[in-house]
Amino acid sequence: MLIRHRPRWALPASAATPEAVWLDRRRLMAGLGAIAASGVVTACAAEEEVADPSAGLYPLPRNEAYTIERPVTPEEVNSRYNNYYEFGSGKDIWRLAQRLPLRPWEVAVDGLVETPFTIGIDDLLARMPLEERLYRHRCVEAWSMTIPWGGFPMRAFVEMCKPLGSAKYVRMETFMDRKVAPGQRTPWYDWPYVEGLTIAEATNELAFLVTGTYGKPAAPQFGAPLRLAVPWKYGFKSIKAIVRFTFTEERPKTFWEKSGPTEYGFWANVNPDVPHPRWSQASERVLGTDERIPTRLFNGYAEEVAGLYAGMEGERLFM
Ligand code: MTE
Repeated sequence: MLIRHRPRWALPASAATPEAVWLDRRRLMAGLGAIAASGVVTACAAEEEVADPSAGLYPLPRNEAYTIERPVTPEEVNSRYNNYYEFGSGKDIWRLAQRLPLRPWEVAVDGLVETPFTIGIDDLLARMPLEERLYRHRCVEAWSMTIPWGGFPMRAFVEMCKPLGSAKYVRMETFMDRKVAPGQRTPWYDWPYVEGLTIAEATNELAFLVTGTYGKPAAPQFGAPLRLAVPWKYGFKSIKAIVRFTFTEERPKTFWEKSGPTEYGFWANVNPDVPHPRWSQASERVLGTDERIPTRLFNGYAEEVAGLYAGMEGERLFM
């Protein structure tokens, strides 16, 4: 993703020292002590022992309408290669992400809706039609995976929110907590992470709100307890750890649009024919394999979503 806006004098921290060192040396030292004392594997096991109240809901029934030709990316690969800038700009943020408390987790719904409300994640899970889908996942950085997501169609959620007729977009916002998320202390990004969709996109059959992965509640690095999956768009649209949905008439300014407007925009539809300013989008590296495969328009989902953009040829739909 974007790194150019970082001041010229700033050495990329990941190149110099482990991320957490420059963000919070003391905490890292304490963490290293704990790891040295117990071993990384033991530390992970301890994290997994914390009961998740939604664990009994999984595995969810697979919706066979959403299966694909590629093998599923192994969980060990997917859960150790993540983009989650709240926890750092490297791919190996999984351990730091375990710091995020997943309960209690409240989701606020406001803006142009009949009645604004707040709902706890477990109450939300109880009200939504839960299922598992296999989706392609294509990052703007030209790598891809295939993931079994558990969750519910965003359309069901939008219907529950009862937006007013004047609402044209839904703006989504990630949690904000500088104590937990060291990345949120970096001054060169405008936190919190924000994303947005048109109402037509949000109610498209493919837009999916994710609560689980690989047949169990999603691990923190995947954006638990609630993230988006919009597989026809570059991965940065799929916002993690959502705490707020705001229905609005105005197109929201998104996190990457604010950070790098010459490289990232609102639409971000996958398009192999339009290169990123710094690299080609024609093909993608399939993580967990040695393969590089051609990228497909709308990431292979043109049949489901091309109609959303009819008559919008003037827009930069790939950014
Ligand atoms: N959401 C938040 N809140 N913070 C992030 O840094 N990264 C985005 C997206 N959602 C990001 C986010 C990017 S760039 C990608 S490619 C995907 O999450 C990565 O999802 P994954 O780690 O499950 O592969």
